[in-house]
Amino acid sequence: MRELAVQALSSVERGYDLLAPKFDHTPFRTPDVVLDAVAEVARGLGPFGRGLDLCCGTGAGTRVLRRLCRDDVVGVDLSAGMLAVARRHEDAVWVRGEAGTLPFGRVFDVVASFGAFGHFRPEERPGVFAEVARVLRPGGRFLFPIAAPPRPGGSGWWFQVGFDAAMRVRNAVWRPPFVMYYRTFRLADVRAELCAAGFDVELYPLEALGRRPDGAPRCRLVAATLR
Ligand SMILES: C[S@@+](CC[C@H](N)C(=O)[O-])C[C@H]1O[C@@H](n2cnc3c(N)ncnc32)[C@H](O)[C@@H]1O
Repeated sequence: MRELAVQALSSVERGYDLLAPKFDHTPFRTPDVVLDAVAEVARGLGPFGRGLDLCCGTGAGTRVLRRLCRDDVVGVDLSAGMLAVARRHEDAVWVRGEAGTLPFGRVFDVVASFGAFGHFRPEERPGVFAEVARVLRPGGRFLFPIAAPPRPGGSGWWFQVGFDAAMRVRNAVWRPPFVMYYRTFRLADVRAELCAAGFDVELYPLEALGRRPDGAPRCRLVAATLR
């Protein structure tokens, strides 16, 4: 708890540097069941040439991309600590960089990202999506899973409401900010922003992750194709 408290009072970069050695044992790493569900559906959209794992952390999603790509796979992340752990586990090219100013030209056929969009304020997202569009070759794909919102009033909904409220209070009274919000990444907004950045958007249910009682998929793969 003490370590988590210190991390929560740091910047995003410093917080992940501190968390890095233990990150793979936390619930913040994307679980294998999600990675496998994405890989299964994304296999039908590939194979791809060169891939980029955006906000790669310790490389959980990079492993998925290596299964989908014929050429090299690059992982980019803000945190040198997370990249150091990734480097020990996985054979890929690891680059320290900021999602809003990617240090690449138009060299990728697929960009994937897992578990990181809560770190961007809604007003920052169009810039990140524009960067992804800038580094993708025409016809390239931008892939990421998006979970269905929890049922209002349920335990998951209360957790997200409480977490986001605590984060807003923390960021109002403490510097540097730690940006992480659960309830700001909404499919309708994201879809409109991707279209504005030059993508056509398709959605694929991740059936391996099941459906809600109302029949909606618990999680979908967003497959955005650069026009
Ligand atoms: C929750 S972790 C997810 C890591 C990994 N993708 C996974 O699914 O396990 C979020 C990652 O996003 C990175 N990150 C946050 N903001 C970033 C930014 N602006 N540019 C690049 N990386 C960023 C963090 O350093 C961290 O490694």
